[in-house]
Amino acid sequence: MPVPRAAEAMFDKSEIIVGLEIGTAKACVVVGETDADGALQIIGVGTEPTRGAVRKGEIVNADLAEEAIRAALAAAEESADVELRSVYLSATGSHIEGNNYHGVHPIASVDREIDEEDLKAVERKAHPKLTDGREVLHALRQGYRVDGQGGVENPLGRFASRLEVDAHVVSGQITRLQNSVCAVKGLGLEVEALAFAGRAAACAALSPEQCELGALLIDLGAGTTDYVVYHNRSLRHSRVIAVGGEHVSNDISVGLKLSNARAEKLKLEHGAALPDPAAHGRTVNFTSDVGLDNRTVSISHLHQVMHARLKELLLLIRDDLARAGLLAHLRAGVVLTGGGARVPELERLATQVFQMSVQTARAKVGSGPSSILDEPECSTALGLVKLGAQQRAAQRQSHTGVFDWLADRLTGA
Ligand SMILES: Nc1ncnc2c1ncn2[C@@H]1O[C@H](COP(=O)(O)OP(=O)(O)OP(=O)(O)O)[C@@H](O)[C@H]1O
Ligand SMILES: [Mg+2]
Repeated sequence: MPVPRAAEAMFDKSEIIVGLEIGTAKACVVVGETDADGALQIIGVGTEPTRGAVRKGEIVNADLAEEAIRAALAAAEESADVELRSVYLSATGSHIEGNNYHGVHPIASVDREIDEEDLKAVERKAHPKLTDGREVLHALRQGYRVDGQGGVENPLGRFASRLEVDAHVVSGQITRLQNSVCAVKGLGLEVEALAFAGRAAACAALSPEQCELGALLIDLGAGTTDYVVYHNRSLRHSRVIAVGGEHVSNDISVGLKLSNARAEKLKLEHGAALPDPAAHGRTVNFTSDVGLDNRTVSISHLHQVMHARLKELLLLIRDDLARAGLLAHLRAGVVLTGGGARVPELERLATQVFQMSVQTARAKVGSGPSSILDEPECSTALGLVKLGAQQRAAQRQSHTGVFDWLADRLTGA
């Protein structure tokens, strides 16, 4: 019997890091391994359809969800040849939102340098007092200001009378976050930390240069569209719209009078986000669809239906960013990921809507097989592995990270 690599890892200082997304379409497990120098390599993947267990990014049938997660984990264990014991888990759903907060901390004595206690104090003041059962998922520092001077990366050791901090805080309903954590723990696995799926996808899909210049990442999944904006290397905006590829298929089903299964198949085989002039007059025939007569469907009609829904979705995002004053900060443009990024002509539609450059993501996560790195559906789980590697590196340097990964209570870590 081969020795599981997890056991070997105890001796050679390599570490196994696992990302798990329990998505509306599929559970996706990605396995990474860091070597003694911290270099990350992706060594395995496992996916399994969630088949009605998840709606709009949230578990609605725990038994079915556990079945799908178990199968995805088994496939990942086989592909990576390791035994998996703990995961970094993503969370999404319409209850998740991100907001910017500001903290001010007066420093009483002017002849004293800013110290660690001052940093903790100002960070606490930027913490929102959440109500209605909400919990902070991430609190991410954007930048310090010392006596009114912005852009200060490290205020330690400076003399000042006033220390300020800006932070982006992502929060969600604790009970709704707990569902996926419980499903994973029910399988005997430890949850190391919980991350907002949009942040994880961005971690995989955006380069440091794009985060610096300003970029919008859109993760178009089956049940949700998560999007985040990075600028000056910090997270500025995060949102979830509970609309995804399933809604596109549903529109096709209603508009073209097809069963859901036929609508999904038609979308995957002939879909496009912009009407294709070459498709004019082309049709597809369906015979004996469940409970429906034979049907002949126009491809142009299919494209119109998809175009309407996808354009509406992109306009919602554009209008939200316009209200937040962020459109002018997107100098690196828009990056698309998630299974929905596969829709032909979506890049061109998004270019028309946002009036800026748009590209489909390729994961920027260490090294690994392109069959994993190039799959837009894997971005979230890949990003979880990268975030996990970063967190472990920070822990080794004893940055306990009071300002991030505040889901300790949830994960029991
Ligand atoms: N070629 C394609 N054309 C159109 N849609 C596609 C294509 N490939 C995948 N999709 C759609 O992508 C969606 C699945 O994407 P993904 O795997 O990212 O979702 P998920 O992560 O499981 O869901 P969520 O994140 O919303 O909970 C499905 O709705 C599927 O129809
Ligand atoms: Mg997803």
